[in-house]
Amino acid sequence: MSNNQRSISAEVRLSKGGPIKITGNVILAKSDGTPIPVPEGDVYICACGRSKKKPFCDGSHKQVVMERPLL
Ligand code: FES
Repeated sequence: MSNNQRSISAEVRLSKGGPIKITGNVILAKSDGTPIPVPEGDVYICACGRSKKKPFCDGSHKQVVMERPLL
């Protein structure tokens, strides 16, 4: 089954001062539509802007206090 044919369903969970957790079957792409390989399992998207592995969280948010957290 190709990426265009697979069913997309996911839960997106916001956390206070941390990453955005995505659980489920997702396709991730850059703003121009270029696909971003998604690791198996839950995906953690950086919401603080400090990760060195963007768009994924690398734990750097633990070193800072977000000025404007999502929640
Ligand atoms: S949210 Fe974890 S490094 Fe940004």
